[in-house]
Order: sequence, then structure tokens, then C-alpha cells
Amino acid sequence: MTHSTVEQPVANPLMAGLEGSRDVPPCTLVIFGATGDLTKHKLIGAVYNLAVDGLLPDHFAVVGAGRREKSDEQFAKEMREALDEHSRRQPVDDSVWKRLAQNLHYHQGDYDDKESFAKLRDRLEKIDEEAGTHSNHLFYLATPPSVFPQVAKLLSEAGMISPVSDDSRWTRVVFEKPFGHDLESAQKLDETVHSVLDESQIYRIDHYLGKETVQNIMVFRLGNGFFEPLWNSRYVDNVQITVAESVGVEGRTSYYDQSGVVRDMVQSHILQLLTLLAMEPPSTLSADGVRDEKVKVLRALRPYETDDVRRWTVRGQYDAGWIGGAQVPGYCELDGVEDNSTTPTYVALRAHIDNWRWAGTPFYIRVGKRMTRRLTEVAITFKAPPLALFGHAGVSHTGPNVLGIKIQPDEGIYLAFSAKAPGMKMHLDSVRMDFHYATSFGVSSPEAYERLILDAFSGDATLFARTDEVDLSWRWIDQLLGCWDSDVRVPLARYAAGTEGPAEAAQMLRRDGREWRSL
Ligand SMILES: NC(=O)c1ccc[n+]([C@@H]2O[C@H](COP(=O)([O-])OP(=O)(O)OC[C@H]3O[C@@H](n4cnc5c(N)ncnc54)[C@H](OP(=O)(O)O)[C@@H]3O)[C@@H](O)[C@H]2O)c1
Repeated sequence: MTHSTVEQPVANPLMAGLEGSRDVPPCTLVIFGATGDLTKHKLIGAVYNLAVDGLLPDHFAVVGAGRREKSDEQFAKEMREALDEHSRRQPVDDSVWKRLAQNLHYHQGDYDDKESFAKLRDRLEKIDEEAGTHSNHLFYLATPPSVFPQVAKLLSEAGMISPVSDDSRWTRVVFEKPFGHDLESAQKLDETVHSVLDESQIYRIDHYLGKETVQNIMVFRLGNGFFEPLWNSRYVDNVQITVAESVGVEGRTSYYDQSGVVRDMVQSHILQLLTLLAMEPPSTLSADGVRDEKVKVLRALRPYETDDVRRWTVRGQYDAGWIGGAQVPGYCELDGVEDNSTTPTYVALRAHIDNWRWAGTPFYIRVGKRMTRRLTEVAITFKAPPLALFGHAGVSHTGPNVLGIKIQPDEGIYLAFSAKAPGMKMHLDSVRMDFHYATSFGVSSPEAYERLILDAFSGDATLFARTDEVDLSWRWIDQLLGCWDSDVRVPLARYAAGTEGPAEAAQMLRRDGREWRSL
């Protein structure tokens, strides 16, 4: 598939983020939790790759903050090693790195120590002066969520949060996921955060929204005229959202065993995907224009009742099995997991959006760890033609029309449809039209964190969750988990690692006369 680039006019200056061109003002990025995995695997790589692409301002600095003692030099050395291992672009460009490293600092201190925050404030003032970063600060909280409230409070007490009315400088705070453990904790966290920050200064990150293909859902739907008229329950039979992972939860058991797959994946990534797929076209691409429409979908999501969870939900946990020729242990055999843990590592749901557009079209959701392979995909299956004109023909291998949006590991879109197989007989076969990001554009996609950090620098919150989105998503999740807790008749289904999930999930779809797309 070839492509031509079409410059879309920017009708609304607030579209600049989605449109893709923007000016980033001078600023300093302060990462709390800078000694952690996320910084090493993703954040420093995102900053470096933005620098390679010339997207950072000339006046820019990074401060890593953590509890561990280390010098600026030691921190810089560790960040360089992290880049050599994890950056999407290899080898690392020494000249770009040198420029970045000149303004890379480390600040040691506890997250509950007022003194340390006062020292950080003084240090930032000095950096602002030396690097010309204009007192614009993006604080990125890459710490465990338990410390989010105290960091936000101490930033405020140390005078590091500028009022929104101050046009000469800005403060923004990125909160990593998860934002809360349930509705109550999310609301409590929100209250604390709102006591020191305005909503416009709060950036709740969900890195799925930074993925190119996820953003492309909006472009595909709304930048083209051909599918949107069909994008409703009149033409769509069902939508399947699959997030399958072959990895287990090694190394994250203490977090995961408290959370499980629903809190870890469905509350955030899955509901973000679902709202983008199902929302009404916004009238502008401004942050609130898009988020207003996503919120309406969340409001229309039908809450589960006790009877529904037995028919429309399956929760499962993996046992030992084989993946890629290697034997892997079952979930309960992992260090840090109790032998009798009932934490689900798999979930299958039938969800309904009770609005005019989607009434009658089920959204099937399937998320699991230790499955056959890694795959994130949305499949929209269209209804059959009203008359089976070719029903008498020697039909073989035909299936429904399916539009597939591939999110990872391969990024692209495909359309499956019936075609006449060559020959004198009327013989139909199913064929596919494929678009691959990598081959069509010939460049690798930026990582989600690059996009989102750049958006936060530019003050574009479109791809970050707003307070009401978080609130409504937890309401729906709490309802589901509450039904499971109150009904012992919803068993924890078992599946072997390296398979497509529990048999009960396949049965759930079969009862509806449908099947999961094969992984
Ligand atoms: N890793 C990922 O790929 C990923 C993906 C999505 C979301 N996240 C989210 O991003 C955040 C950071 O993830 P991560 O994997 O980098 O976490 P991490 O490695 O466990 O922790 C980050 C840093 O926070 C500090 N820390 C750890 N436990 C602490 C505690 N109890 N109190 C105060 N500070 C503590 C440590 O730094 P010091 O000891 O130097 O203070 C640690 O290096 C989390 O909220 C996580 O849920 C991570």
C-alpha cells in the first residue's frame, strides 16, 4: 500500500497536538522515581528520541529525583547505559547525548521530607537561571502510586506549583497509572491532588493513548468518509478487543496480586480503547472536545448485575504450561503469590453501551497473561448482507467482513472480505487487504511515551485521562468486581500457560453464536 501525505488545516489552535506540530516552550522535566524501571526502560529513551528528532526546546533540562544517594555523574552514566540498552534508536548518537547530558541532574531526597523539597526548589531556580528554562516545570511522578499524594502536597508546600493565573510560567504534573485502586481510593487521591493543582495542571497518563495505532483509530474513523456511516449497531455485529500477553507477572507479583487483570488493564487501557472506538465524533479535537465524548460512552456503559456476571463474564488464572518451547510456572507457583491466590490473570467480558449508536452490539473484551502470543487488536465484525445471494454457490472459507485494527506487536489495519476465487465456477473465498505502518511509511513509530511527554510539554491534555473519565471507569469496574465478590457461583476458570485462555470464555461466545478471533 502506498501513501501520500495530506496536510490537514488546523481549524482550531487546540488541535495542534493531534495535528502534530507544536512549539515546546523552554522547560525542565523533573522525574520522581528516576532510579526505577520506567525511567530506565521508557522515560529517558523518550527524552533522548525527542532530542534526536529536534523536538525539544533549546533551553531544556532534566532532573532525576530519587531516595538513593548518587552523584549527577553516576546518574548520567546510568541513564546512558539505559539508553544503550533500551532506546528504539541504536546506536545512541553521542552528540545528541552530550547535549542532553549537559543539563541532566540528580536530586536525592525522601518523598516525605520537606527539607528535600525546599532544596529541590532552590536547585530548580538555579537550573532555570543557568539553562534558561523560564520556570516552566513538568513533574513526572514515576513512583509507586502510594507516594503520589505526599509528593503533590510537598511540591505545593515548597512553592513549586505556580498558580494557573500566572501566564509567565507553568507547572504540570504527570501521574503514572494506576490512578487509584478502586473508586474510593481514586476519589481520595483526586481530592488531594485537586487541593494543590488545577485540573488543567494534572496529566493522568495511560501510555496506550500515546500509541500511533490508537491515535489512528480517531484518524481512520473521522478523517475518512467511508466507515463512519457504518460505525453503529445497524451494521456492526460485534466488536472484539483483545489484549493478549505471553509474559507472566514475574517481578511484579506484589503489585499484581493486589490488582489483577481487571484493575491493571481493563480500568485503564481497555476502557480507553473502547471509548475511542465507540465515541461520537467530537465537534473539535480540543482536549475537552474529545474527552467529553469519551465520558459519554463511559456513562452509557451498562453496569453489571449479579445475574449478568455469570453469563457475560469469565475470570481465569493460568496454570503451568509451555510458551515458545519453554516450560513456565503457573501463577500460584510464583514467588510472592499465595498458593491459593484467586487473583485473575485473564478476563473475558461482554459489555454493552446503552446509547442510540451501539444498542444491540456487544463489545467483547478479552485480556490475559501467559497466552499463546502477544497481540493487541480490535476486530470489528460487520453484519452479513441482508440476502445470501451466493448461498447456493460452492462457497468455502468465507467469513464475515472484519475490520481489524492491529495495535501491537505489528501496527496496521486490515479488512477481510469475500472475493470470487478465480475459475469458471462461482466460488467465494475470504481475502484480506492489509495496511502495515512499517512498510507504508517506512519509518518506525515513535514510542507512546515520546508522544505523551511532548504533549505534556506543550500543554495538550487530549491523550490524558480527565478526572470524570477516571471516576466513571472505576465506578464500572467496582460494580463488576463487587458482583464477582458477592457471587460465589462465578468460578475462577483455569487455563494452561501458552493457550488462548479458559474454555469457559469460548463457551461464553458460543452461547451468542459467535467465536473469538484466533490469536
Ligand atoms: N515499569 C513500567 O513499564 C510501567 C508501566 C506502566 C506504568 N508504570 C507505573 O510507573 C510508576 C513507576 O514504575 P516503575 O516500574 O519504575 O516502579 P519502581 O521501579 O518500582 O519504582 C520507581 C522508583 O520509586 C522509588 N520507590 C520504590 N518504592 C518506593 C516506596 N515504597 N516509597 C517511595 N519510593 C519508592 C524507587 O526509587 P528510590 O529508591 O531511588 O527512591 C524506585 O526506583 C508506577 O506507578 C507504575 O505503576 C510503570
